Amino acid sequence: MSKRPFVNRLNDLDPKTWLKFQKSWFVHAPPPRKKGVIRHPAKFPETLAQDFIEFFTKRGQVVMDPMVGTGSTLLAALRSGRHSIGIELNNNYAEIAGQLVAEEMINLGESVKDISCQVIHGNAAQITKIAKEFNFPDIDYIITSPPYWDMLHAKGAQTQKERRVTEGLDTQYSDDPEDLGNIHDYDEFLRKLVDIYVEIKPFIKPRAYLTIIVKNVKKGGKIYPLAWDLARILGESYTLKDEKIWCQDDIRLAPYGLGSAWVSNTFHHYCLQFRNE
Ligand SMILES: C[S@@+](CC[C@H](N)C(=O)[O-])C[C@H]1O[C@@H](n2cnc3c(N)ncnc32)[C@H](O)[C@@H]1O
Repeated sequence: MSKRPFVNRLNDLDPKTWLKFQKSWFVHAPPPRKKGVIRHPAKFPETLAQDFIEFFTKRGQVVMDPMVGTGSTLLAALRSGRHSIGIELNNNYAEIAGQLVAEEMINLGESVKDISCQVIHGNAAQITKIAKEFNFPDIDYIITSPPYWDMLHAKGAQTQKERRVTEGLDTQYSDDPEDLGNIHDYDEFLRKLVDIYVEIKPFIKPRAYLTIIVKNVKKGGKIYPLAWDLARILGESYTLKDEKIWCQDDIRLAPYGLGSAWVSNTFHHYCLQFRNE
């Protein structure tokens, strides 16, 4: 009996690699970062972004990240032969992203000569204006990670803050009031974040996917279920598909609540999948 040929409309993966990616959790072991080069305190690994990009797009398609930081999404897109656009509010980060992209283009040489990669210094809340000004093509996929509310400012994150100082990382993204990480009211933060993703919708192709990497946050002993709130609220504008849980197995445990209370060491992020249906 002849097997039905595998028709793949979404990506360029073989069935085995496709299935492997569909597991709902993963542990990612990225190569170590270059020391001292990048001050950004909350990057996701380029190798992680590349796995997602290669699942949700085909070569030559367009990937976008409206809060691109120092450009992990752009480097991942470049390495997998996808065009990309990144917006970032903090000019230092946007400049670093631009430099890293330029270096990577030289490294990759001929293989990316037809691949475009654009870093835009701007406010994602003005996406409609930016898209017109820069003449955006239709977008095939978005992968992004927002500020985890104002957690970089949080007192409870003191030890993390100290770690950032020791490691030479920024202890906040910027002083800019347009920086979502500087909004202290949780509901206002959530509303502004959702507004940005909703405003992007007309620029994304029908049935294209959006992946948002995010975490529930703890502040003053209280849990703010950012990932779950975002899934529920944004699920009114896109179809929420599900989550893929990124487990981090390379972080030292801290003795929070030892001997008295349950306080988790939260070493997982949600990669929320939405679809423009
Ligand atoms: C979690 S970080 C993203 C890191 C990025 N994925 C990387 O690997 O470098 C969130 C980013 O959102 C940026 N940001 C905050 N508010 C913004 C806004 N209104 N428009 C664009 N970027 C913003 C911050 O400067 C920060 O770099």
